[in-house]
Amino acid sequence: MELTIIRPDDWHLHLRDGACLTTTVPDTAQSFARAIVMPNLKPPVATVSQAVAYRERILNALPEGMTFDPLMTLYLTPELSPDIIREAAETDCIHGVKLYPKGATTNSDAGVSGLDNMMTTLETMAEVGLPLLVHGEVTDREIDIFDREAVFLERTLAPLMERIPTLRVVLEHITTEDSVEFVKAHPEMGATITAHHLLYERNDMLAGGIRPHLYCLPILKRSKHRDALIAAATSGSPQFFLGTDSAPHAVGDKESDCGCAGCYTAPHAMALYAEVFEAAGRLDRLEGFASVFGPQFYGLPVNQESLTLVKRPTLVPMARPFGDTEVRLLKGGETLNWTLA
Ligand code: DOR
Ligand code: ZN
Repeated sequence: MELTIIRPDDWHLHLRDGACLTTTVPDTAQSFARAIVMPNLKPPVATVSQAVAYRERILNALPEGMTFDPLMTLYLTPELSPDIIREAAETDCIHGVKLYPKGATTNSDAGVSGLDNMMTTLETMAEVGLPLLVHGEVTDREIDIFDREAVFLERTLAPLMERIPTLRVVLEHITTEDSVEFVKAHPEMGATITAHHLLYERNDMLAGGIRPHLYCLPILKRSKHRDALIAAATSGSPQFFLGTDSAPHAVGDKESDCGCAGCYTAPHAMALYAEVFEAAGRLDRLEGFASVFGPQFYGLPVNQESLTLVKRPTLVPMARPFGDTEVRLLKGGETLNWTLA
């Protein structure tokens, strides 16, 4: 059995930098034509010239014969000015601005602690049509980690959308039923959904042993939330589209006293999503989710090429090279039903 779809795009991706790019760039480009590239490097990608230079480094790591268009983003630092937004809007390679609440996740120290001082910048984004891509979690220590996404909707996102209704917003890597409902109630918004949040719930990470390679942020939630995500992803609603949040970390940084958040899924992401859509009896809706709704939201054309998946049991390799070390793959050592043709 084969499934041929319009070549997909990844609307949320971490490629990292330096020597890691020789793994991460081809791993994504073998399936995806384009990807929204996250700016959480150290130092962050905070200016147009930094984004342009990072894009060049990515393209330099693309093997001959492969095609891939990195869609760049800027990091919302307190210094991100309306002038930089206007400059970004004039390029054709910057497609969004990423909000990391300060302290929320990997390399989020450069983020903003609140949005009150950023209103002119956000208004300028609304004016020029540059979307805000949101890591939707509060960082308050008193808020339980499992509630941080839901509290963010109430405390930060709802007031922001009321204040600047014309701002285009993508709620990234949603993990809760609350977010699904919030997005549905705001028809102008988009949301990305990862493969790992569709495949796992928190028991998979914590019951019977702690599995650091399933630790990601926002953290996996209880199974009713996973079920709500599956329903949203397979609903055919154009508000929900594919964003892997593939986020590689060196194996030693995950298997550690204080392990990093992130799952590496780029190489076999389409096979992972296919498992979910097939189990839901909705393989016919994979193409919309993976290849059509994202471009529609971002105002870009869908890809001309196609991608074929074949239903054939395929062993996922344990790891991939990662600079001078290795990165573990999600489901490494397990067998998936689908593979790239
Ligand atoms: O699991 C995650 N990893 N979530 C994020 O928000 C960041 C990402 C990373 O960059 O490692
Ligand atoms: Zn991410």
